[in-house]
Amino acid sequence: MAHIHTPIPSLKLNDGASVPMLAYGTGTAWFKSGEGSEIDKTLIDSIKTAIKLEYYHLDGAEVYKTEPELGSAIKESGIARDKLFVTTKVMFGVSDIAKAIKTSLEKLQLDYVDLYLIHAPFFFKSDEEMQKAWAAMEQVKVDGLAKTIGVSNYLPKHLETTLKTAKIPPAVNQIEFHPYLQHKDLLDFHKKHNIATFAYGPLTALTKAAPGPVDDYIAALSTKYAVNPAEIFLRWCIDQDVVPVTTSGKEQRLSDYLRCATFKLTPKEIQEINDLGDQKHYRAFFKDKFAADDRS
Ligand SMILES: NC(=O)c1ccc[n+]([C@@H]2O[C@H](COP(=O)([O-])OP(=O)(O)OC[C@H]3O[C@@H](n4cnc5c(N)ncnc54)[C@H](OP(=O)(O)O)[C@@H]3O)[C@@H](O)[C@H]2O)c1
Repeated sequence: MAHIHTPIPSLKLNDGASVPMLAYGTGTAWFKSGEGSEIDKTLIDSIKTAIKLEYYHLDGAEVYKTEPELGSAIKESGIARDKLFVTTKVMFGVSDIAKAIKTSLEKLQLDYVDLYLIHAPFFFKSDEEMQKAWAAMEQVKVDGLAKTIGVSNYLPKHLETTLKTAKIPPAVNQIEFHPYLQHKDLLDFHKKHNIATFAYGPLTALTKAAPGPVDDYIAALSTKYAVNPAEIFLRWCIDQDVVPVTTSGKEQRLSDYLRCATFKLTPKEIQEINDLGDQKHYRAFFKDKFAADDRS
């Protein structure tokens, strides 16, 4: 199997941290329902494969129940800790973040994570609750348990509420992002406030929302750059300073995804994907929180 050696580019965050612009995720396909106490050996092997292929940005979450696998894979891979950028997120434990981060670190067998995220704003009952949670996140950073702190699934209104009382602004907002959900207002807000956009579900137009208006153009670009459609979707993120968070259980696919580091889309090609993508709206996650035609 060809091993692609072109390094994945990095993005500088508003607190000075540097993050590899392609992440391996341990949610969705790997998500454990029920108790989640059984160890998923296939996932451990897949994470080790990803690390071997030089995926150093690893995305986890309390709610995926895969932190133990992530921890074991990191340990078994023998990789130096400072090479990795490890993310986890808090959802169930949001009312006691000080405790939640300790539990997560224990499961991960780590002293710190590189990035800690509030998983979603939908569970807060008031603005005060959201602001209090952010203050607890700031303490996690002060205590050195997370190098960088951020949020996920926040809309401009949630970021505004958070920024009103924040001493440290969120560095990252991890959102569903693909041509059929481009979040233009949110991305403008991120740019204005120097918050990095991380994209989960970056392959949705290919995996869940096909067929669609971008298909033919993506196929043409795949031929032009001699890559798979997946790599075009990943590069479309990177070329807009967005960090894609993807995954695969297949080594070949993980290896292929790395080809997104070997070419660049032109501004005209990005615009064409954006324009075609605008012709359709599709949301794969948190559908119950939004009206069917709500693109925010
Ligand atoms: N913050 C949040 O609320 C949130 C929500 C969702 C996800 N996430 C994070 O984002 C990560 C990635 O999310 P995602 O899985 O939705 O991302 P994605 O990049 O859109 O999809 C990855 C999936 O696409 C499949 N795939 C790739 N190429 C394909 C092809 N040509 N045909 C058919 N299937 C193909 C892979 O399956 P194979 O395994 O078969 O290759 C893999 O399961 C998660 O693991 C999680 O870490 C965060």
